[in-house]
Amino acid sequence: TTYTVTVEPLGKEVSCREDQTILDACLRAGVWLPHACTHGTCGTCKAEVLDGDVDHGEASAFALMEFERSEGKALLCCARPRSDVIVEGDVDVEEGITTHPVRDFVGTVTGIEDCARDTRRLTVDLDDDIAFHPGQYLQVFVPGKGVTRTYSMANPPAEPRRIELHVRRVPGGLATDGWVFKDLAVGDELRVSGPYGRFFFRQMREEPAILIAGGTGLAPIKSMIQHILASEDEQQLTLYQGARCLDMLYDVDFFRGLEQEYPDRFRYRPCLSEEQVSGFEAGLVTEVLDRDMASCRGHVAYVCGPPPMVDAAIKTLMRKRLFPRDIYREDFFDES
Ligand code: FES
Repeated sequence: TTYTVTVEPLGKEVSCREDQTILDACLRAGVWLPHACTHGTCGTCKAEVLDGDVDHGEASAFALMEFERSEGKALLCCARPRSDVIVEGDVDVEEGITTHPVRDFVGTVTGIEDCARDTRRLTVDLDDDIAFHPGQYLQVFVPGKGVTRTYSMANPPAEPRRIELHVRRVPGGLATDGWVFKDLAVGDELRVSGPYGRFFFRQMREEPAILIAGGTGLAPIKSMIQHILASEDEQQLTLYQGARCLDMLYDVDFFRGLEQEYPDRFRYRPCLSEEQVSGFEAGLVTEVLDRDMASCRGHVAYVCGPPPMVDAAIKTLMRKRLFPRDIYREDFFDES
């Protein structure tokens, strides 16, 4: 069965299958709605159901509380229609941002590389070009398990056919230990959909950018950096990449190469918090940033990594005179 979902205040109508989430139907139809995790945990996609019935699916009890459900709120990344529905979302799309509709792709794995401790880089050739903003992510279908996992594209949009994903192993994880780190092989088929997410490079922010990455949170940041450096704009970038030990840091040579290629535009600060190695900064990314800059005023920042790192980075940036509107963040959970 297919129902009609009307999205207010846009007045746009989208058809949605009963087994499809409202967010998915809207993103595929090119109607952009705010979202981050797409898995019912962050609350970003919360909206009001003005009319009709929905099934709340796997919406977490923390992201959507009982009283909110009874008030007619829903998480659109989990809600599936049970009748024609009218929803009112926070559709305040930032000006100057085009949206790329979500589509399905079939890919072929062309490369698997162990790039750091418990970290794999997958290269996947898609059956068609994918249009996306640097920083956005894909949903990857885990074969035979009926679930998806989200991974950011590390390739820039100028390479729309060959995508690069960074996967961190989670011990016992269904998709990591049970698949990517077990029997995934070059030549295997990979089904993905995308692009998703609102953590992406903002073209109109031309201030010098501070990019802070922890773990595989490097992936979206790597896409942004390649995109920005390849453009004509003279925007200056500083990358703070953090890890505990050297064997957990990856793509160091890649970024050192960029630093040589763009000496006036790109600065690379690899940081190790539990090991002292010459050529690397000692300390957490926040400590190194703290030593480097007396004030961050006049900058824009992109932060992606484990939630404690993201929170600490935002605190440091705000202490150094950035405002929330100058900071774009993504909490990056290594998915099991
Ligand atoms: Fe995170 Fe829906 S709860 S996008």
